[in-house]
Amino acid sequence: MGVFDGELGLGGTLDAAAIARVEQCAGVIARGGLVAFPTETVYGLGALAVDEAAVRRVFEVKGRPTNNPLIVHVDSLAMARRFFSVRAWERFGELVEKFAAAFWPGPLTVVLEKAEGVPGVVTGGGGMVAVRVPAHAMTLELIRRVGTGIVGPSANRSGHVSPTSAEHVRGEFGDAVEVLDGGVCVGGIESTVIRVGPGVGDGVQVLRPGLISAEAIAEVVGAGVEVFVGAAKGGGERGGEREREHEHERETERGTQIDAGRDGSDAVSLHGLAMESPGLLSRHYAPRTRAVMAELQQWTGVVLAMEAGLGGRAVQAGLLTHSELAASVCSPTPRLVEVLPGDARAYAAGLYGALRRLDEAGLDVIVVHEPPGAGRTAEETWVWRAIADRLSRATEREAGEC
Ligand code: TXA
Ligand code: MG
Repeated sequence: MGVFDGELGLGGTLDAAAIARVEQCAGVIARGGLVAFPTETVYGLGALAVDEAAVRRVFEVKGRPTNNPLIVHVDSLAMARRFFSVRAWERFGELVEKFAAAFWPGPLTVVLEKAEGVPGVVTGGGGMVAVRVPAHAMTLELIRRVGTGIVGPSANRSGHVSPTSAEHVRGEFGDAVEVLDGGVCVGGIESTVIRVGPGVGDGVQVLRPGLISAEAIAEVVGAGVEVFVGAAKGGGERGGEREREHEHERETERGTQIDAGRDGSDAVSLHGLAMESPGLLSRHYAPRTRAVMAELQQWTGVVLAMEAGLGGRAVQAGLLTHSELAASVCSPTPRLVEVLPGDARAYAAGLYGALRRLDEAGLDVIVVHEPPGAGRTAEETWVWRAIADRLSRATEREAGEC
């Protein structure tokens, strides 16, 4: 059972044209080339995971620091297992099987000790490897034909907004990269990344929030296994700050502990735990235009302050909001307004496309209307949190009073 099965028709078959295109792209990858591929989250920049030179080229093309490891995309649990060490599998295989049954294909990435044969270039030189089964029929067929895992960081230049359509990928890399066009990504933000094994005891640590919630993960692992919602050192602290703002906060010696039991789920604990995790950089997922997160009441202040800074020249300001009424209360009038849905999943699906349109409009500043901190259910609250994680890295925060 994958969360995205229904939406993507994973049970369905690809038509002849799609198969032919997948076949072509599988050939490119098998020969050591790069192909951007669709997933249910965002497009990935694919290369053969076992081909060091091809993987190095992914880092070069993206301009990505080589110590930031890549996710290996596989077509099945059986293929995933080949990337994990025997030792890790003996200890955690049962847990990974549970995750696979509940969430794969789908937006959950599992980090576990790597098998010896996994090149260090994939893991940023470390001993752990990240693996997931993406929920997209074309990409599953692509991996099946290639016969082994495909690395896939988001198919954007390092630090920039992730692409959710083939057109976005072409905008990033032009003709330098082959694109397997699988339509618009239904999820819209990157997978939830979890780590099991060394450093987490017998627990599970969420390294990056995504569409799969900590509560859903806790339900799958069952009582007795703790789920930590961690914050990275150096840049990832924002997650930690949010943790502390959470209404169920309770300080403990180990970090911040949250009673998930209070919102109806069973008696699991989510802990905020500072821990090193590469790749959770403070400036990421960002448009090139200056972007500021603010409450609507701050709109006038932000625009006027910028005008003053530009010697009085009229500032071209754009607004990203989840409220239909937002633009009507903003003075001076925004030059461009992108209104996203008030539902968290729908907001996530539209977020990167909207950010890109604003980024391409030649604005001086993009003001991002602060999204809701909570939804109607624990699940929705989690998705808002994943969105807030991305936006906090994509924007500066407007200081000062409302
Ligand atoms: O949804 C997604 O995850 C997309 C699609 C294409 O699958 N991919 C994606 O890749 O977002 P990327 O490289 O942009 O983000 C991968 C995240 C980074 O934060 C990276 O640091 C983390 O996963 N990661 C990868 N391997 C890791 C490892 N061995 N240990 C800890 N974190 C790891
Ligand atoms: Mg990325």
